[in-house]
Amino acid sequence: MTKTDIAPQNAPKRVFIKTYGCQMNVYDSDRMADALAPHGYMPTQELGEADLVLLNTCHIREKASEKVFSELGRLKEVQGERRAAGADMMIGVAGCVAQAEGEEIARRAPMVDMVFGPQAYHRLPDMLARAQAQRHLHPSLKKAVVDTDFPEEDKFAHLPAAKKEVTIKRGLTAFLTVQEGCDKFCSFCVVPYTRGAEVSRPVAQVLAEARGLVEAGVKEITLLGQNVNAYHGVDAAGRSVGLGELAYLLAEITGLERLRYTTSHPRDMDDALIAAHRDLPLLMPYLHLPVQSGSDRILKAMNRKHTAAEYLALIERIKTARPDMALSGDFIVGFPGETDQDFEDTLSIIRQTGYASAYSFKYSTRPGTPGANLTGQIAEEVKTERLYRLQELVNQQTTDFHASCVGKTMPVLIERVGRMPGQVGGRSPYLQAVHLEGSTDLIGAIHEVEIVGTSTNSLVGRLKQAVAA
Ligand code: SAH
Ligand code: SF4
Ligand code: F3S
Repeated sequence: MTKTDIAPQNAPKRVFIKTYGCQMNVYDSDRMADALAPHGYMPTQELGEADLVLLNTCHIREKASEKVFSELGRLKEVQGERRAAGADMMIGVAGCVAQAEGEEIARRAPMVDMVFGPQAYHRLPDMLARAQAQRHLHPSLKKAVVDTDFPEEDKFAHLPAAKKEVTIKRGLTAFLTVQEGCDKFCSFCVVPYTRGAEVSRPVAQVLAEARGLVEAGVKEITLLGQNVNAYHGVDAAGRSVGLGELAYLLAEITGLERLRYTTSHPRDMDDALIAAHRDLPLLMPYLHLPVQSGSDRILKAMNRKHTAAEYLALIERIKTARPDMALSGDFIVGFPGETDQDFEDTLSIIRQTGYASAYSFKYSTRPGTPGANLTGQIAEEVKTERLYRLQELVNQQTTDFHASCVGKTMPVLIERVGRMPGQVGGRSPYLQAVHLEGSTDLIGAIHEVEIVGTSTNSLVGRLKQAVAA
């Protein structure tokens, strides 16, 4: 390296990325950072030193969407301060709000330089160059660079491979997006519009990325997709490979110890995937399988294309294959037309299934979805009351699940130093946080831990076996 390479004019620029929404956005934010690194942008956690700010946004509910505009209001001040100090701060809005609202964002927030959807991330360096070319223009002549096209080319093939330095920062666990978009069109949901049609990454691409992650020290991979179990990537022979078969292929990677996937749709839980749960110890016995409602009438109106009984039968089949399977779910209360009886049916399916954890939401009307045109919208107080009752039930189930772990011995991936001196912390197969007394030498491997108690939202453990010499 010559001296000029490290001269001040070549000092790295800083990018501050703020991520909202689901894990796919977390993964995408890392990939945007990877795509910018060769262009001299290094990630920063300090907004005040950022030359570029990217908001990776979520459109799933109204509240999530509105956060963007309040954040932009705050950023405008910081941008003003940076400019007064002779520096600059470019602002880009990415993610699902960008895809849904496009130009409208630039109109509402003129200080935004770029607006681009999830299918355009590989074009980010090019967009940035175009936005920068305008930076010396008079503000009235500037025009935000907007890219919300769904391109023909494969975004993933054009994004740089995950970087080792970045990967290490991500630690022992990593996300890997294998499928994107959705063709299900549940009547409440914006995802098919913001992420586009279902696309699966080819098998070789997924395996190569997984191997790279494992070589960099990753022990646990979570495969991501809006509909991850609808995965159907092509292999070298041009055959379509489902998620079950993909799991068997990933299980062959030496050093990969744990595999998870999220989010699944009940209709795509096929026999091959259930068999993989039976056969592959690395496939963790913890499944996020949202049902949304326990009422057949509401399930139909939501366009979920299955009944409550079919969901319960599916859970039975999964538990037959993997008896220690724990479940997590998503629920929407107050979907248009939801009666007291429909809501009772939801409580009933929760009681029958028994969840280790669950996420629950009040129905939020999303413009452009079929649900927005339905009559029978539910009053806010009714939604609030139903959400409260539902959460009371699932919180009790979570507490019971944690309590049922006491006395059991389970493998824990020790990931970090604990909250107290002399403690380390990790995750159980069921994604519970576990704290135990132990040396930092334990970090980075899976150890057998006896669960001796519970505390708020976590388990207390005791190391069962000494580390092998
Ligand atoms: N693909 C996943 C879910 C993606 S969105 C699936 O099919 O299950 C994550 C969760 O947000 C959904 O499961 C749903 O519970 C919730 N959600 C989606 N749209 C919503 C809306 N309009 N109002 C309230 N909650 C919503
Ligand atoms: Fe949305 Fe339904 Fe697709 Fe899930 S399956 S992303 S809830 S449309
Ligand atoms: Fe939100 Fe888009 Fe994910 S709407 S939940 S960030 S797919």
